[in-house]
Amino acid sequence: MAASLKAKTVLITGCSRGIGLEFVKQFVRLPSPPAHIFASCRSPDTAYELQQISRDNPSVTVLKIDVVDKLTIDSAALQVEQILAGSGLNLLINNAGFLLREAKIDDVTEETMLSTYKVNTVGPVLVTKRFLPLLRKAAQTYGKDEYSTSRAAIINISSHWSSIDINDIAGHYSYRCSKIALNMISKNLSIELEADKILVVTLNPGSVRTDMGPDNTMSTEDSVKGLMNVMATRTKEHNVLLYDYTGALLPW
Ligand SMILES: NC(=O)c1ccc[n+]([C@@H]2O[C@H](COP(=O)([O-])OP(=O)(O)OC[C@H]3O[C@@H](n4cnc5c(N)ncnc54)[C@H](OP(=O)(O)O)[C@@H]3O)[C@@H](O)[C@H]2O)c1
Repeated sequence: MAASLKAKTVLITGCSRGIGLEFVKQFVRLPSPPAHIFASCRSPDTAYELQQISRDNPSVTVLKIDVVDKLTIDSAALQVEQILAGSGLNLLINNAGFLLREAKIDDVTEETMLSTYKVNTVGPVLVTKRFLPLLRKAAQTYGKDEYSTSRAAIINISSHWSSIDINDIAGHYSYRCSKIALNMISKNLSIELEADKILVVTLNPGSVRTDMGPDNTMSTEDSVKGLMNVMATRTKEHNVLLYDYTGALLPW
């Protein structure tokens, strides 16, 4: 039987569609769902499916976070702090992402590089920085001294395209670079947060059929089912390494 996530509070970025929206659906259906699922997106007013989930499930709070806009991150964090009323945040999932298709170096511009880097690399840093005090609070008050997604963890959604070792088709310059930088941020964080025993894991969802990869064959349901299982089973020995949705270790 699949392991089950036991985090009591979780915040996810990029929940308007794709993998982020599916995370919300599967968190709600867990045998012991979190008491609070903070589902953030850039435009809550037009995130109709997410809003419906929130209406059907009082545990789901929809928040506005544009990961490149510090004001929205601050405002969402204040709302989360108010709702949690002194408790911490167990799990932060940096899922929001952006892909521009660049087949050849001629397609790459300063603008494609910087705009992709801003969403995929700078965004997770800004979000993590702002929510770190709440993650630390969860770690301090959990009781057991373990590395786990039940206690306190940061999950960075990276990609197999971030791996230098398994790049045999080239292309996607800005995306690959932004995600490899995210991997380094994860590594740095995992060392810096050792004192707090906050788990940091980088995950690859696989090739999933979403707006980002419309021709991919795997469903969001299967990818997220796998990711949820992998997250539930991560512990100190898995700190920072890059895993895919099956739990297989990928080379950097
Ligand atoms: N699909 C795949 O095959 C695949 C493979 C490897 C890794 N991934 C990673 O998985 C994650 C989810 O991707 P997906 O396939 O679900 O892509 P998607 O369907 O294109 O969804 C991307 C999500 O990110 C959000 N987003 C984009 N820019 C944002 C910003 N500045 N602030 C906040 N949210 C923002 C989008 O919100 P809006 O609706 O507002 O645009 C949307 O909710 C990404 O990190 C991606 O790199 C995907």
